[in-house]
Amino acid sequence: MSKLLHIQSSPRGERSASITVASKFTESYKAAHLEDTVETVDLWKAELPEFDGAVLDAKYAILNGQPHTAAQLEAWTAVVKLCEHFKSADKYVISLPMWNFSIPYKLKHYIDLLAQPGLTFSFTPAEGYKGLVTGKPLVAVYARGGAYGPGSGAETYDQQSAFIKQIFGFIGFTEIHEIFVEPTLAGLEVKEEAMAGALRSATDLAFML
Ligand SMILES: Cc1cc2nc3c(=O)[nH]c(=O)nc-3n(C[C@H](O)[C@H](O)[C@H](O)COP(=O)(O)O)c2cc1C
Repeated sequence: MSKLLHIQSSPRGERSASITVASKFTESYKAAHLEDTVETVDLWKAELPEFDGAVLDAKYAILNGQPHTAAQLEAWTAVVKLCEHFKSADKYVISLPMWNFSIPYKLKHYIDLLAQPGLTFSFTPAEGYKGLVTGKPLVAVYARGGAYGPGSGAETYDQQSAFIKQIFGFIGFTEIHEIFVEPTLAGLEVKEEAMAGALRSATDLAFML
């Protein structure tokens, strides 16, 4: 039995293109994997701890090879809990809108909490940086108002998929599947066509994963 974790980062609920496509993926996944469980985290409802003060100092203590103070240890517990929760899943789907060519700040906040030495990556002078979340597939569902694919002329503006591949690659992911819903703001007909294609890809991928 595997656990699929769906991390939602659009605040638009049922109107969200990224959530609609990712939900199609999770529904199809459930139909194809009857034994598995699906958990959804809405980052706009989740209580994400601030990453400052003692918790920030706790990260630097690890990076500098120093022991934690009592206050740092206590603050670090919330980060450990978030990382352990993330790592408790076997498969992942992250749905995200493009915001200012990149990702919504709630998802960045979550990632800033998640990318931690000793929890999701390690560093040794001999081996350099090593991701610790390995052997697990990730599906990223991107929604964008414009179009950024090959031949669009806007490829270099896409810091959304580039960042997701880089940061999740950094913490160990080697199997990253991407579904794009674009353009969503070029007229209703164009959006419907983009949605239809993405929904088909989501269904196909759910049965393969
Ligand atoms: C704050 C904000 C910033 C946005 N920035 C961009 C952008 O840089 N490029 C783009 O193509 N669309 C941009 N959009 C449009 C969204 O990416 C688009 O509407 C997308 O379909 C939203 O996904 P969702 O329906 O899952 O929330 C932006 C939307 C918002 C609210």
